Amino acid sequence: MSEIVGGLFTSHVPGIGAAIAKGLQDDPYWKPFFDGFIPVHRWLEQRRPDVAVVFYNDHGLNFFLDKMPTFAIGAAPEYRHEDEGWGIGGYKPYPGHPDLSWHIIEQVVASEFDPVTCQSMTVDHAVAVPFELCWPDAKAWPVKLVPICINTVQHPLPSPKRCLELGRAVGRALRSWKGDEKILVMGTGGLSHQLEGKRAGFINTDYDRFCLNNIGPNPEALLRHDSLDIVELAGSQGVEILNWLAARGALTGDVVELASNYHVPISNTAAATALFENREFLPA
Ligand code: DHB
Ligand code: FE
Repeated sequence: MSEIVGGLFTSHVPGIGAAIAKGLQDDPYWKPFFDGFIPVHRWLEQRRPDVAVVFYNDHGLNFFLDKMPTFAIGAAPEYRHEDEGWGIGGYKPYPGHPDLSWHIIEQVVASEFDPVTCQSMTVDHAVAVPFELCWPDAKAWPVKLVPICINTVQHPLPSPKRCLELGRAVGRALRSWKGDEKILVMGTGGLSHQLEGKRAGFINTDYDRFCLNNIGPNPEALLRHDSLDIVELAGSQGVEILNWLAARGALTGDVVELASNYHVPISNTAAATALFENREFLPA
């Protein structure tokens, strides 16, 4: 039987990819962030997931403003990263899992979601940087990828409640999957940051702490703000916390925090990493 082994939540700042390429992990600027991955590597080594279901937002690589789905699910045999102008790339292609993707798509449609289905899809730094962080020495990726893309870019944005419910529908789909894979759920982006306009550089450590404290034990607490409130509280890109909320929804068991790291700033972002184990309730 397949198993949802846990959830890994992390910022996806492109500069992290550049730092990895330059081997700057022990540089004083970067070390406090990269050290947050030491327990993650240990846990991944122990649990060895086979699949990563990744909730993220596309920043204009696969979807641009002319065609912006609210939710999109990849069902491709392989995904490639392409250089978006951040100067990072040359990454290995990501093997897909079309059978699991279609199972998820069928189940979330049965739960009355209407995702765009993508049998061909490129993935941007929001997938590539977390993969480099999780498996820095991998010759080939140890996991198959199911990318689930949420619009956090162009208004109107989906509500936090809708994102949590999407994640829950994905979690139910994963529970009903008849394969035998160990499944890691990932949520990427955040925490607070704003890259443009008068508030460029905006960070809100109080709201970030509120998110970090509640995302595991009480994700409903994050529903007290709507998406526009979150733009106000966390910055126009800080609303990427919607990806975390959806990923949290897909953790269907008892959620136990194994590691958490918060470091301000990395580039323009309040950077965070959190790892949760998902302990399924045993049948009576
Ligand atoms: C930065 C953060 C992001 O989430 C992103 O997508 C691009 C850039 C940054 O802080 O530089
Ligand atoms: Fe981003």
